[in-house]
Amino acid sequence: MSKHDLNTAAFLQCVSPLLDTSEVNSMKQWRRHFYTTCYDHSLFVSYVAFRLARYFGWNYRAAARAGLLHDLYLYDPADNSAHPGNQCLDHPEFALRNAMALCPDLTENEKNAIVSHMFPLAVHLPRCREAVAVNMADKLCAVLEVVRLYQTRPIQRWLPSSSHC
Ligand SMILES: [Fe+2]
Ligand SMILES: [Fe+2]
Repeated sequence: MSKHDLNTAAFLQCVSPLLDTSEVNSMKQWRRHFYTTCYDHSLFVSYVAFRLARYFGWNYRAAARAGLLHDLYLYDPADNSAHPGNQCLDHPEFALRNAMALCPDLTENEKNAIVSHMFPLAVHLPRCREAVAVNMADKLCAVLEVVRLYQTRPIQRWLPSSSHC
């Protein structure tokens, strides 16, 4: 088995049950960072956070799960009637609420990673390593998506194959 396949298998062990849910799949209907869907972005963040955590010996399951759920706000950000105030500050709170409803077994570190992922713009501070991994992954992935590097072949080949997800 290649290193890529081993990483993919370990990653899918962490997030497969979540990938099968209608809530996570519903993120495919909303765009994120102009050129990707909220689902693609969340999967990208999840995998980067997983790889960072695995590299540093942190809890990679928590990083992968929180990464996948960090933007689970489940509304169209362009629809001002869908949320009360500032999208930047609001959406981590909505994502946490939906993630807790979807996963009653969410750990405190996973909750913190979701609600603090907009740090330093967020009200909540990252208080664990997994939150740092998701925070870093979110920013890196957002940049790669905005400059359209996400769609390039090296990144698409590095990601777990879409046939697995
Ligand atoms: Fe976000
Ligand atoms: Fe995000």
